[in-house]
Amino acid sequence: MSDSSHFKAQLREGWNGAAVGWRLWAETLEVAAQGLSNRLVELAQVKEGDHVLDIGTGIGEPAITAARKVGPNGRVLGVDLSREMLAVARERAKAVQLQNIGFREGDIENIILPSSHFNAVIARWSLMFLVNVHDFLVKVQKTMIPGARFAAAVWSEPAKVPVITVTTNAVASVLNQSLHTSGMPGPFALSDSLALEQVFNKAGYRDVKSERFEVTFQFKSARDYANYSQSVSALARPMLSTKPADVQEQAWNAVEKAAKQYESSTGSIIMKNQAICVVGTR
Ligand SMILES: C[S@@+](CC[C@H](N)C(=O)[O-])C[C@H]1O[C@@H](n2cnc3c(N)ncnc32)[C@H](O)[C@@H]1O
Repeated sequence: MSDSSHFKAQLREGWNGAAVGWRLWAETLEVAAQGLSNRLVELAQVKEGDHVLDIGTGIGEPAITAARKVGPNGRVLGVDLSREMLAVARERAKAVQLQNIGFREGDIENIILPSSHFNAVIARWSLMFLVNVHDFLVKVQKTMIPGARFAAAVWSEPAKVPVITVTTNAVASVLNQSLHTSGMPGPFALSDSLALEQVFNKAGYRDVKSERFEVTFQFKSARDYANYSQSVSALARPMLSTKPADVQEQAWNAVEKAAKQYESSTGSIIMKNQAICVVGTR
C-alpha cells in the first residue's frame, strides 16, 4: 500500500469511528457552526435552482444549508470518504425532508465528477485533510461552470482553536507525544491564510479572498466538553484507544482539567475559535 492510500485508509477509519459521536453531538456542533455554513453559502453565492457540490460533507454540512437555499429546482451533492458519516448525513437530510440532496461515498481527490456542471462548490473543515490540495483545486475547477465560486472554511492556527487543542494538547502531554504532525494533512494544515489564498491563486482561481470567522462552542461543563471530545475526535480517541484503560482515564481527566480555563461563572464552558473562509471564482 502506498503512503497516500495508507493515510486515506487511516483517515476513513478515523472518521467512520467518529460518526456515532458526531450523530450524538450534532446539535452542539450545529449550534456552533451553522453560522459558518451560512457564510460559505453566501460567499459561494448559492442561489435558487443551483447545482452545488459539498466536499467532505461529513454529517451533511454545509450541504443541508445549501439544499435549503437552492430549493426544489436545485440540487446538492455531498461527497465524503466515510460511509458512517454519510449515513448520519442521510438521516439528517431525511429528518428535515430535503429531497434535493444526494450523498456519494468516495475520495474527493480521486472520484470522477461531471465537467462544467456545478454553480458552486463549498467545503467546511475538510480541505485540510487532502493530500494534494493544489491538484484537487485544479481538478474541481473543471467541474465548476465558468464564473462559479468555491468557498471553503478551514481552521486557523492551533492557539486560536481551543475546541480542538485543549484536547490534543492535554492528551499529548499525558502520552508524551504530539498529535499534530506539521506538513501533514490534518486540522491545521491550511491555517496560514496567506498560504491558503496562494494555493487558490496558483490553482487558477480569480478574485481570491479570505476572512476570519468566529465559531463559539458551548458545553454544560468541563466534563461535558471532555465527553464531547471523546466522542467526536477522529485523532485523540483512536490514538488513545490502543492505550491501557488507566492511561485513557488519565488523559480524559487531563482534558477536563484543561477545559476549566474556559469556565464561565455558571460552570459552562465557552470556547471561541477562529476559522478562515476562503473564496475563489473559476
Ligand atoms: C471535520 S469533518 C467535517 C465534516 C463537515 N463538513 C462539517 O463541517 O461538519 C471532515 C470530513 O472530511 C472528510 N474527508 C476527509 N478527506 C476526504 C477525502 N479525501 N474525500 C472525501 N471526504 C474526505 C472526512 O471523512 C470527514 O467527514
